Amino acid sequence: MPDSQCLARYASALEFAETQVAQLAERHPGYFPIYTKDGKWLHEGELWTDWTGGFCAGMMWQFHRRTGDAEWRRRAEEYSKLLEHRQHDRNVHDLGFIFLNTYLPWYELTGEQHLHDVLIQAGRTLAKRFREKGQYLCSFIGPESLFIDIMMNVPLIFYAGNETHGPELLRVAHAHCQRTAERIVREDGSTAHEGVFDTQTGEFLRQSTHQGKSADSAWARGLAWSLYGYSKCYRLTGDESYLAVSERNADYWLRRLPEDKVPFWDFDADLSQPPPLGAQKESSAGAIAASGLLDLATQTHSPEKAKAYRDTALATLDALTEPDYLAIDTPGWEGILKHGVYHTTKNLGVDESVMWGEFFFVEALTKVVSEKETR
Ligand code: GLY
Repeated sequence: MPDSQCLARYASALEFAETQVAQLAERHPGYFPIYTKDGKWLHEGELWTDWTGGFCAGMMWQFHRRTGDAEWRRRAEEYSKLLEHRQHDRNVHDLGFIFLNTYLPWYELTGEQHLHDVLIQAGRTLAKRFREKGQYLCSFIGPESLFIDIMMNVPLIFYAGNETHGPELLRVAHAHCQRTAERIVREDGSTAHEGVFDTQTGEFLRQSTHQGKSADSAWARGLAWSLYGYSKCYRLTGDESYLAVSERNADYWLRRLPEDKVPFWDFDADLSQPPPLGAQKESSAGAIAASGLLDLATQTHSPEKAKAYRDTALATLDALTEPDYLAIDTPGWEGILKHGVYHTTKNLGVDESVMWGEFFFVEALTKVVSEKETR
């Protein structure tokens, strides 16, 4: 257990998070920013791809679930409804990020049929990205491309398959997980960002990257997506091979983390060089992995690993709740967590707050604080 001083710090970080999100909702109603520029949420600017709406609305659901506050529920419903049309969006591979963090908590709270219908439709839409030749869900880049990020979205297809007893959805989801594990999760537990396939034959061609340092490096956020994604897939399927992949990712993560347990943007970055290509921290990857490790600690069959995963998650949260990362003492900063990175080579949201970093930080803190409250 974290000591009571840490728990108090986590609770006050959550209160700060509520303040920041409330201010965003008041100043810019119905707006879904993706990253800050000099600490201010950016209103224009390149999205690269439109994948992050579920994180802002998802935080509102997290706040409501923890506090029971009616205003957070009202806001959560309002922001979730703005995303409903995305259930048919065939341009992105991110429908899990959008719907599992919004319509799923909403449905779990109310049991309303319409919310369930939206979730199932979103799962079916995502499954249409499946390439029979190659056996993977393709990324928004094109039919030849498989991203590690999709591991956090494929749980939506498992969910829809389980709920509808749909063997076709489950086939597609399992095939994608297996192909990803074979082609872009490496033996040592690290991951490539992308796998590229021949669309005519389905043959695997090479590992590649968009957001990492190089094709053969270990981009920190991609590894966090894999660790957490396979753990979610294990929870939904009971397939032990997914637990094994998640543990392999986690063991690599633990071996290579720096002392403060917050990763640099790429595990193979040259730390003798300055940011952004060198020693640039990536707080969002730390937050995602902390949330994933908390779950994995409850899933692994090894008591030693369970302790190591949980201790690492808490050490990361301890670091992220210090004012070096938490923007609590940074006047005028509109985000919650500083030192996140979106896209280094495109210079989008580098050393800034990023909306998924905010969400997974809130999610991880909420897991620990709520655990204590329900004891
Ligand atoms: N493309 C998803 C990410 O930036 O992690």
